[in-house]
Amino acid sequence: MTPILEATSICKTYRLGRVDVPVLRGASIEAGEGECVAVLGASGSGKSTLLHILGGLDRPDRTDGGSVSFRGSALQDMSAGELDRYRRTNVGFVFQFYHLLPELNVLQNTLLAPMVRNGRFAYTKRSGELRTRAEGLLSRFGLGERLRHRPVELSGGERQRVAIARALMNEPDVLLADEPTGNLDQTTGASILAAMMELRAETGLTMVVVTHDKATAQRADRVVELRDGVMGASGAPVPA
Ligand SMILES: Nc1ncnc2c1ncn2[C@@H]1O[C@H](COP(=O)(O)OP(=O)(O)OP(=O)(O)O)[C@@H](O)[C@H]1O
Ligand SMILES: [Mg+2]
Repeated sequence: MTPILEATSICKTYRLGRVDVPVLRGASIEAGEGECVAVLGASGSGKSTLLHILGGLDRPDRTDGGSVSFRGSALQDMSAGELDRYRRTNVGFVFQFYHLLPELNVLQNTLLAPMVRNGRFAYTKRSGELRTRAEGLLSRFGLGERLRHRPVELSGGERQRVAIARALMNEPDVLLADEPTGNLDQTTGASILAAMMELRAETGLTMVVVTHDKATAQRADRVVELRDGVMGASGAPVPA
């Protein structure tokens, strides 16, 4: 069976002044339909870089940089419009540092995803229904009482939960989540993860989750580890 998302031999080198800094040196990862794959790796090992490349937010090296395919279509062969559609429609992205807009409240930040996806006209026609969906998702992630708060009035963990709700708003096929429980205490982290898993069971969502958290990794179907720019053996047991 073709994986829904597959990255093969990804190389990514950052250039700092005259120095090349190779971060990914042939990393490969795949996720089957509905699968949850956890990505572990030391700080600076390139986990966020890899996730950005999977989401079409960054590109591998131009020469021999490997390729990413979504349902068998290579991202590098997509037109700008197709790539844009992939980012807006197929993928939901939870950024490590949230990227919420400070001047918008929780509900507005969450509604931003469908606003960007649908365009203003189509969005306005469905705004009631989308608002109900946003409120439902936010309640599910424990933010029902925070709808009118701005990001600056929220804790780090609450901001992260808004970012998760926003990423799920457009019912993506794949959720790419960068440390979604990184700023949460154990109990809250477990309940947010449970809510994400529940959504996965309902919708068949595929998840690639970057995490330092063993409890998160343990709930994944498979764990891979990024080390020295390549992926360790898939299915490696989570260290106790
Ligand atoms: N835009 C950039 N320009 C130059 N170097 C970068 C850039 N982005 C990342 N790097 C470097 O690439 C390496 C990998 O960064 P990345 O953010 O992917 O790591 P990470 O595994 O997500 O780390 P963490 O667990 O701390 O979030 C780091 O050494 C970082 O300094
Ligand atoms: Mg990171």
